[in-house]
Amino acid sequence: MKKIIAPSILSADFGNLQRDIEMINESEADWFHVDVMDGVFVPNISFGFPVMAAVKKHALKPLDVHLMIIEPEKYIQDFAKAGADRITVHYEACTHLHRTIQLIKAAGCKTGVALNPHTPVALLGDIIGDLDLVLIMSVNPGFGGQVFIQNTYKKLQDLKQLSGGINDELVIQVDGGVGLQNIAALVSAGANAFVAGNAIFATEDPAETISKMKRQALNRLSV
Ligand code: DX5
Ligand code: ZN
Repeated sequence: MKKIIAPSILSADFGNLQRDIEMINESEADWFHVDVMDGVFVPNISFGFPVMAAVKKHALKPLDVHLMIIEPEKYIQDFAKAGADRITVHYEACTHLHRTIQLIKAAGCKTGVALNPHTPVALLGDIIGDLDLVLIMSVNPGFGGQVFIQNTYKKLQDLKQLSGGINDELVIQVDGGVGLQNIAALVSAGANAFVAGNAIFATEDPAETISKMKRQALNRLSV
């Protein structure tokens, strides 16, 4: 399966956002990862629709929008209008997850569900067939630059097992503390899409780091 690299623009230089977007456009990255935080679901506030619309204006690749907000169902249409190609909501933020997933589909976007580090993969058993993507959080959401949680490997294996035979096209994404040091091991555990903020933007040549991540991801056989 294809390996997706999705740089998180949360770690971009917001004073030079257009420059950083163009860097991603010209790089081997596949998607723009857009982290939306509301200060309620997570202890941080990132940005909302105007910034997203500005990103969309310059981005030549799909916007992979990760909603770290409560009641995401209220804003699905607005995110689709602002240019989201894929919308991922948190399992922990959705009382009626099935309904929210249908709303995302009706808005014309690909569907995703994110799991916090403490949320077992098994809870997705009755919805896995309806999803395009599952995002395994490998840090507690809210901030870039945190330390990767080792239990993520087990969760990726659990997810691979849960989705096997039911949804073999599922995108298995990992987000938080991902970089050159662990991407190959994450591929071996079953991941095929990788979000990285700090590991890309804190390097001297972010585009080159993206290429290296892509090479590392592709050199391993997926399980
Ligand atoms: C964390 C966000 C991540 C974050 C990743 O809550 O969901 O997408 O930007 O940043 P790094 O790669 O620096 O851990
Ligand atoms: Zn994210």
